[in-house]
Order: sequence, then C-alpha cells, then structure tokens
Amino acid sequence: MQMTSADLLICGGKVVTPQSVVEANVAIKDGTIIAVGSDGAMPQARETLDASGLYVLPGAIDVHVHFRDPGYPHKEDFASGTAAAAFGGVTTVFDMPNTIPPAGTAEALAAKHRIAAEKAHVDFGLYGLLGEDTIAHVPALVAAGVIGFKLYMGNTFGRIPCPSTGAMLEAFEVVAPTGKRISLHAETNSIMERREARLRGAGRLDPLAHLASRPAVVAVEAVSRAALLAEWTGARIHILHISSAEELRPLREAKARGVDITGETCPHYIMLSSEDYARFAGTIRVNPPVREKRNQEPLWQALADGTIDLIATDHAPHSPEEKTRNDIWTVDCGFPGVETQMPLMLTEANAGRFGICDYVRWSAANPARIFGLYPRKGVVAPGSDADITVVDLARELTIEDAALQSRSKITPWNGRRVKGLPIHTLVRGRFVMRNRALLPHTRGWGRSVHAIQKMPPARVRNADGTMQAIVRLREHAA
Ligand code: DOR
Ligand code: ZN
Repeated sequence: MQMTSADLLICGGKVVTPQSVVEANVAIKDGTIIAVGSDGAMPQARETLDASGLYVLPGAIDVHVHFRDPGYPHKEDFASGTAAAAFGGVTTVFDMPNTIPPAGTAEALAAKHRIAAEKAHVDFGLYGLLGEDTIAHVPALVAAGVIGFKLYMGNTFGRIPCPSTGAMLEAFEVVAPTGKRISLHAETNSIMERREARLRGAGRLDPLAHLASRPAVVAVEAVSRAALLAEWTGARIHILHISSAEELRPLREAKARGVDITGETCPHYIMLSSEDYARFAGTIRVNPPVREKRNQEPLWQALADGTIDLIATDHAPHSPEEKTRNDIWTVDCGFPGVETQMPLMLTEANAGRFGICDYVRWSAANPARIFGLYPRKGVVAPGSDADITVVDLARELTIEDAALQSRSKITPWNGRRVKGLPIHTLVRGRFVMRNRALLPHTRGWGRSVHAIQKMPPARVRNADGTMQAIVRLREHAA
C-alpha cells in the first residue's frame, strides 16, 4: 500500500490519552497527526525522534495565564511567557485581559492579537474583558476573535472595576447567545474590601493578613451567585482558581442542576498551604489566597470525581522587588506557573496520587472540550494538531527561580524537587523546545486558536427580559 510520507515520526514512546497508555508511534505531516500505531502502520518519514522510555502527551492547554502584554514588559511579554509555556510542555495558552489597555474593545483585542502573533512560541487564545463598561462591546469582541470572556467579581492585580450583580446579569444575558464561555474571578469584592480595611485598621501587615482578608466565604458567595445567574440566563461559565473546600458545594450543586459550569484549580492550592507563608512571605501572595492545609484533600478529591474539570496555572508574573515588600498590602499578587505546572503534577503522578491518563484529562482534553477546541487540540490522535509534549517521568530537577524562562524570577516553588519533566514540545508539528532547549526562530510561530473554536449553541434562557426592556425604552425615546 502506498502511504503519503510524514515529516516526523515519534517512535517507541507511550502515547497517553484520557483512557489509556499505548506503546505506539506518532506520524506527523504538515502540522497534523496523520497516524498513531505500530511500526507496520507507519509511513516513511523525513525525520525520526526516538521516544523510547518516554511518554507522548498532548501538549497542555493552560486556560489561565497573564502575559502582561501590552503594559508591563518588566514583568513579562508574549515572547517570554510563551517561551516559559514551551518549557512547561504547554502548547496553547489563554491570556487574560488585565493588560494596559485592558482587552475590552475590538481595537485593544486586535492590537493584542498583533503582538501575540509576532512574539508567541505557542498557540494562544485571548480573553475579552467583560466589565460594567464593556457589555456594549461584546458583539465586536466576539467578531474580533475572543476565545471567551473574563469577568472580575473581585479586585486583583490591575484594579479592573468589578461589575455589580445587575451588570453581571446583563452581561450574562448578552454573552449567552454567543455560546462563548465566561471565566470568572469568583471572589466577592465588597466582603474583601471590608475585611481588608478592618485588618489594616488593626495594624496587620503580615502575609497571613492577606489570607484573613479573603476567607473562603468570599469565594463561596461569588460561586453561588455566578451559578444562579448562569442558570437563569443559560450562559456558560468557568470558575477560575478554585481554592477552598467550601466552594465545591455550590459548584457540585450547580452541576447537578444542569448549569453549564466548569471549574479549575491550580498547583498552588493543592500543593501549598498556609503553613508555607512564613517561609515565602510576600512571594506566596496570590488571589485567591493559598489556604489552610485542610483544603487540599477535598480539592484533589474534586479533581478525581470531576467536580473540578481541569488544571490551569494563573501564571501571574511580577518582579522580585514587587513581591518582597514588608507591607503585605503593597505586594503584587500572583507568581509564574505555566512552566512548573507539568513537572509539579507529574511528580504527584509519580508518587501514585493519580494516573497519567487523569493528568492528560485535566491538562489537555478537558480544557480543549470546555473551550470548543476538541479534537483539533487536546488529544494525540489522527486528524488532531500535532501539539505534543514528550515527557521523561524519571527525570528529576530542583526548580530554581533563576533558571525560569519567565521574566519573573520569583516563585514559591523555588528549591522544590520534581520528578517528571517535559523534554520536547511540539506545536503543530514544529519543535519549540527540544532536549530542554528553546528552538531558535520559533518566535512568531504561535497562532490564535479562535478560528478553530467551535462552541455548540448555548441553551439560552430568560435572556429576553432586561435586554428587551432596554430596546423598548430606546424605541419609546425614538
Ligand atoms: O494573584 C493574582 N494575580 N490573581 C489574579 O486573579 C490576577 C493575577 C494578576 O494578574 O497578577
Ligand atoms: Zn488570573
């Protein structure tokens, strides 16, 4: 039988899907996987990569990164952020809109698309900002190619104003028919503002005061309210950075009611705890905060049972100076994570906490499904983009901040021993990292994934009330 020849054969590795680990070769042509199978089923190829002893995973899809471009080049830009992604085995990132200017208009989004297209080493999606003042821009942002929307229910870095519940309902009504998912920073601002004022008034400046200002009820209230509004309108929502055991109840209940709601957690909520504040001081400050150790097991359990759908990082780079101030209230929130997520999670897989199939479900398949990219992305299978990370589960490393690709060389992972490293990363068939080194000339290879996104129509409900009232008012005035 005459077979078309491939550009690259990845030979002898173990191919991981959410269902199974199979010894198989992977053939790639023109950026697409054309065959997965035994030696006899493989076409000729121009190049071969020996992956014996290694695992072949779909590249991770990190739906939550802050690459700061445009606006904060000393923290990160699209080149440094996506280089960090390539090193972390991450082949697609979704960038958050709290840049300068925020990505809340079609013009700002177009400018960011140009920046990302020029600099990105990996594929990307761009969130549009859904705020009180940007609701009117939703149709233009959708036309301009957002991957989804981000709504801040609580204040965090960038001081993006938080919409009222009224504006949120309207925003959900407007977005629901578009089918796009709304990712929520689910922390209720009014609770946090009061608590922080009280703590500051009492003279608290220590790192744990940050945790005290954002108790779990902040998230429980926000998740519950967001779920209600999503249920009312049929809007799709995604709960970002789930940090507490208590949030899981409203999330589980909403899922049981059939709300189109998904959730993520990040490595720092399942691997760090309030016991680490003394050691890392301001470095560990992040929103939502790293919480008491008792939250870790319920969060792991929620990942295992599907209440939490995926792993993301909230990669939030800042400079060492911005992270090491003595007054905790002046320390910038967040730290980089896109490069360390996979090694940290593979370390836990190695320790037997979960299987490698679970990992690819959380890191690749589920993110792709939830944001309408599956099966083009998120799986190693014929017909899919050749977004692949080749992993050595036996390879160990001590994470060192100074060695990170991110411009932000400060994390609470510094000094942590990991076992399980991405060795090669391919984006649409092209090596962007090979043998733990960034490939030259891959800057600008990354592409926006919005064009391949296919969200099924949402089940819109009650979305006529407010909007029709507005339209009637306008008609009346005319
Ligand atoms: O700690 C955080 N930092 N949490 C967020 O939600 C935003 C992020 C940032 O942009 O720095
Ligand atoms: Zn974030």
